[in-house]
Amino acid sequence: MQRLSTAQLLEAMEWRYATKKFDNTKKIDEVTWAALEKTLILTPSSYGAMPYKFVVVKSQDIKDQLTAASYGQTQVSDCSHHVVFLAKEKMDAEHLRKYIEQTAAVRGLKTEDLQGYEKMMVTNLVERMTPEQSFKWASNQAYIALGNFMTAAAVLGVDACPFEGINPAKYDEILGLVGSGWKTVCACPTGYRASDDKYATAKKVRFNANDLIIYK
Ligand SMILES: Cc1cc2nc3c(=O)[nH]c(=O)nc-3n(C[C@H](O)[C@H](O)[C@H](O)COP(=O)(O)O)c2cc1C
Repeated sequence: MQRLSTAQLLEAMEWRYATKKFDNTKKIDEVTWAALEKTLILTPSSYGAMPYKFVVVKSQDIKDQLTAASYGQTQVSDCSHHVVFLAKEKMDAEHLRKYIEQTAAVRGLKTEDLQGYEKMMVTNLVERMTPEQSFKWASNQAYIALGNFMTAAAVLGVDACPFEGINPAKYDEILGLVGSGWKTVCACPTGYRASDDKYATAKKVRFNANDLIIYK
């Protein structure tokens, strides 16, 4: 692997900001988007169980509807790709079976070899969790995907804005998710900053390292 230098990494982290205004004429090209999509797929999750899905909205009509479900935040209409992060409402044995089958196929194993792992996952993720705990756990995994995605976007020079200022129930309606077993958790409009977005040059507000980092 070719590594970024520490300076390159920090440059990307300083360059990124929660983009308030996108240039609606600029679209993410296919090659760049393919890499960002792969970042979503490669995100790590607890047990590797992937209790999430990602809806990528490019349709202007749907983006406009989602703007209304985002308290009018115009980043949604103006961005190139609006990514919506879904979490599984309640983990179930069927999903875990699919994961076991995928593991067996990818790693050249028999599903029987993975029986112990499957049973442990079913016990911990299906039987021992209330529906509320299960959705919270799945949502946490979706947020990890959001973090990963934003960092990857920054490294590629793509702008993004993490989004919780949304009405998830309305998103579910607009995206046809009601009753699907998947629910909206958060979102991330992605594209390129407008040249007059004054937030691009605003100084970052962060506590000092000694307020945030504890060494032992
Ligand atoms: C989970 C999460 C949800 C956020 N929701 C919104 C949002 O709905 N709209 C918005 O404009 N910014 C939103 N932000 C952006 C934050 O306000 C911003 O990241 C923070 O102030 C730090 O600024 P910076 O990202 O520009 O460095 C959100 C950030 C996070 C991490």
